[in-house]
Amino acid sequence: MSVFDHLSDLPDLPARFTGDYPIMVEGLTNRFGDQVVHENLSLKVRRGEVLGVVGGSGSGKSVLMRSIIGLQRPAEGRVEVLGRDITAADLDQNIGVRRRWGVLFQGGALFSTLTVGENVEVPLRQYYPEIVDDLRHEIARYKVRLSGLPDAATSKYPSELSGGMKKRAGVARALALDPELLFLDEPTAGLDPIGAAAFDRLTRDLAETLGLTVFLITHDLDTLHEICDRVAVLADKRVIAVGTIPELLASDHPWIQEYFNGPRGRAAMESKERAVHKAEAAMDKDAPRGDTG
Ligand SMILES: Nc1ncnc2c1ncn2[C@@H]1O[C@H](COP(=O)(O)OP(=O)(O)OP(=O)(O)O)[C@@H](O)[C@H]1O
Ligand SMILES: [Mg+2]
Repeated sequence: MSVFDHLSDLPDLPARFTGDYPIMVEGLTNRFGDQVVHENLSLKVRRGEVLGVVGGSGSGKSVLMRSIIGLQRPAEGRVEVLGRDITAADLDQNIGVRRRWGVLFQGGALFSTLTVGENVEVPLRQYYPEIVDDLRHEIARYKVRLSGLPDAATSKYPSELSGGMKKRAGVARALALDPELLFLDEPTAGLDPIGAAAFDRLTRDLAETLGLTVFLITHDLDTLHEICDRVAVLADKRVIAVGTIPELLASDHPWIQEYFNGPRGRAAMESKERAVHKAEAAMDKDAPRGDTG
């Protein structure tokens, strides 16, 4: 008896979203007591893009993500995800759409008393209780490998993993239900530069191979340059600009200029330019002779 004998027991998955904007936020306002975090904020995320979301600490990036996934009920506004109005229904009614996204929260908590594999199985048990044990274990093992961890990590406890491995385990769990949308809140915070670059590649590879739309909150300028198709900037309680980094550089908003044109922003840009030149030089070298002339 192999797991393949159970494949016919797998539940039918909903048809994938084919519209242009899997995430649409319109006129969003969020308040905590007297504090207004968002006011009339709008944002459209394109299908298949990796969208970077930046903004000062406390500008409301995590609250925006929580509003999009229905964990924070806004005071005003409309949030549509995969064509469904998230604000209209309560959490339970959203169940059909909730299983179509994966989330890595800031801090990325795994259940410490469960192994990595068991952590990945949690959403599978919750949303697809009809899947038999063997198949569920096998799916979890596959997701662990997909997130770039060795097979052996499946049976390890979170306390036995490095920070970077924990993040990957969190990604494996976020991928458990074959999502169309992936939400990542500061995934490279606390990783060394090499670990962060490896995680960036993982995000890009997953987005491309699995056809994901990625909502990526980050402070990491290298991440923005390396893997984001567009970047949304949160300031003054709304999204003040969305575009490619060259497009954003054309803005004269002080926060954008300070962030991308400040010393760290310039260093990230120059490192990206060096990498592009190196890649171009390597391609020239590899090109068949006579091709250019
Ligand atoms: N549940 C809550 N109750 C009250 N205030 C909250 C709550 N969640 C967030 N806030 C406040 O909303 C503001 C925005 O918080 P948020 O966590 O979205 O910031 P952020 O942009 O993600 O910051 P960071 O970059 O530090 O993660 C902060 O002032 C925060 O204190
Ligand atoms: Mg945050």
